[in-house]
Amino acid sequence: MKALRNTRHDVDEPARGAGGESNRDFDFTSADFERIRALIHRRAGISLSDHKRDMAYSRLARRLRALGLDSFREYLDQLEARNDATEWEAFTNALTTNLTAFFREAHHFPILADFVKRRAGVAGAQPVSVWCSAASTGEEPYSIAMTLVEALGDRAAREARVLATDLDTQVLAKADAGVYAFDQVKHLSPERLKRFFFKGTGSHSGLVKVRPELRAMIKFEQLNLTDADYGLRTTFDAIFCRNVMIYFDKPTQAQVLARFEPLMKPDGLLFAGHSENFTYVTQAFRLRGQTVYELTRGRSDAAGAAPRRASDALGVPA
Ligand SMILES: C[S@@+](CC[C@H](N)C(=O)[O-])C[C@H]1O[C@@H](n2cnc3c(N)ncnc32)[C@H](O)[C@@H]1O
Repeated sequence: MKALRNTRHDVDEPARGAGGESNRDFDFTSADFERIRALIHRRAGISLSDHKRDMAYSRLARRLRALGLDSFREYLDQLEARNDATEWEAFTNALTTNLTAFFREAHHFPILADFVKRRAGVAGAQPVSVWCSAASTGEEPYSIAMTLVEALGDRAAREARVLATDLDTQVLAKADAGVYAFDQVKHLSPERLKRFFFKGTGSHSGLVKVRPELRAMIKFEQLNLTDADYGLRTTFDAIFCRNVMIYFDKPTQAQVLARFEPLMKPDGLLFAGHSENFTYVTQAFRLRGQTVYELTRGRSDAAGAAPRRASDALGVPA
C-alpha cells in the first residue's frame, strides 16, 4: 500500500497561514492578486473573492520558494511568458479547494440507489453510467461506486461505471491511489468498511485502501468543466456536480449546465451541492428534490427510462 501523498489543501483554508502582511516573505500587492484572479478565472472558471487573498498568497508563495523567485510579479510574468504546462498545472492545483468526504450530503445516495435499481429493472436496460464531475480526492466517486454495488449487487461490476473527473491533477492522483486515513472512513458502517476497504497494518496502520473491485468500476481523468468540449461521447444516467459551481460565476455556471444537458439521458439526474441552486441559472433543468435536478425536457418514454410512480417523488414537486 502506498503512503498518502501530501493532502495540502483538503480544507478550504481560511485567511490564515500567510501570517498577515508583516510575516510575509514576499510582497503581495493588490495588482498581484488581481492578476492571479484574472488568470485562475480564465483557466478554471474560478472566481476568487477578496477574502481568498491570504489563501492565494500562502499557496502560491510555496511555488515562489520552490522556483527560487523573489516576487509574485516575477512569478506571474514567468508564468505568462513561458506558458509552461507544468507550472500552469501547479498554479491551478494550488488555487483549487478540495474539501470533500465519503458520503457527503448523505441524502443523495439513497436517491441514486433507488434510481439505479429501477433503471436496472427495466428490460433491455443499458449499463448504468454515472459521472462525478468534481471528484477531488476520490471520496465522492468511491461513495457513488459503493452505492451502485449495494444497489445492484454483483451485477454492478459488469453493469455500472463511474467516470470521475477533476481539474486538479494532484487530487486525482490521490483519488487514483485510493488510500485514506482511517479517520476519514470511521463513520462508515462495519459492513461497508469490510466490503470495500483493506485495512493497513504495520507501517500502514491508520490507513485504509479501497478494494480493487471497487477501484475497477471507476475511471479517473482530468477534465476542466470550463472547456468548450469535454470530449465525452456518451450519455449519463446521473451527473454529480457538487460543490464546484459555487466557485464559478453565473455565466460560467450557465455554460457548464448547457454542456451537461446533451450528456444526460432523458430521465437522468443531476446532483448539486447543498448551497447550489441551478434554478436561477438555467431552464434546461428543474428541481426534482432536495438539490437533485432533472432535465426539463427529459421526462420521456425513451428506451431504458423507467416509468415514474408516485413513490418516485423526491420531496419537492417538479
Ligand atoms: C470543494 S471540491 C468538491 C468535491 C466533491 N464534489 C464534493 O462535493 O465533496 C471542488 C472540486 O472542484 C474542482 N474544480 C475546480 N474548478 C474546476 C474546473 N474548472 N473543472 C473541474 N473541476 C474543478 C476542484 O479541483 C475540487 O477538487
